Amino acid sequence: MQNLEGKAVIVTGGASGIGLATVKAFVAKGAKVVIADFNEQGGKEAEKQLKNEGKDVLFVKVDVSDEQSVQNMVAETVKAFGQVDVLVNNAGFGNMKPSHERSYEDYLKIVNVNQGGIFLGSKYAIQEMLKTGGGSIINTASILGFVAQVGALPYNAAKGAVVTMTKSLAVEYADRNIRVNAVAPGFVESGAVNKEALGDFYDGLVEKHPIGRLGHPEEIAHAIIFLAENEFVTGTTVMVDGGYTA
Ligand code: NAI
Repeated sequence: MQNLEGKAVIVTGGASGIGLATVKAFVAKGAKVVIADFNEQGGKEAEKQLKNEGKDVLFVKVDVSDEQSVQNMVAETVKAFGQVDVLVNNAGFGNMKPSHERSYEDYLKIVNVNQGGIFLGSKYAIQEMLKTGGGSIINTASILGFVAQVGALPYNAAKGAVVTMTKSLAVEYADRNIRVNAVAPGFVESGAVNKEALGDFYDGLVEKHPIGRLGHPEEIAHAIIFLAENEFVTGTTVMVDGGYTA
């Protein structure tokens, strides 16, 4: 089992929701964590709070869909913590629009962040992992990489790609001691997913989860920690979805 104590971890989208819960789960294991996010205010607040608790964290601003920005994120991590042991490619977002009304620009934006971000983060993290003899990458996919959501075409497409990219990278780098896995959350109470924002739509979502509620960010973080620790798992996507896809 991989001991996470003292390991250098990057969590993209680490300023809120599933990412922030993941940052907290890694520091609880004694890891050093880069909170990498677009959201400077949220990221700095999380950094301050965790530093006050004596944790080894650093906020780095990143746009995961911008190659130079991702390269900089990895360079800053190496500068601060010496290497990259674990990368959690978690930053992502989606929206719902009828496909015949969606602009191509909007389509590409969602694909570039959710799918392109996996490629870019992995590319630069793997360069570092190859120097130190290995590491682990965990991608945040979604149940919507497996089943359709009306109006979420680019998100469906990108998250489906995350599942196959996870397999592709896992097979490509297994012999270099780099494992690549993913989590596929069901709907989770975070970001824009909450009763207040979604009203009746929220109740409909709850009904789709046989467990009878949405997930909590900590429940996804728990699965991410499992994937970082278990050294015989690679190329898989763990469903953490309250039975949504069962
Ligand atoms: P969230 O909105 O709370 O967190 C996403 C974070 O990613 C935010 O802090 C945001 O600033 C950051 N981000 C967005 N675009 C970025 C970019 N281009 N570069 C850097 N950072 C960026 O949302 P949540 O729910 O925690 O989402 C985390 C991941 O989980 C996403 O990949 C999402 O697609 C996925 N997911 C979420 C589900 C849910 O129901 N909340 C269900 C399944 C998957």
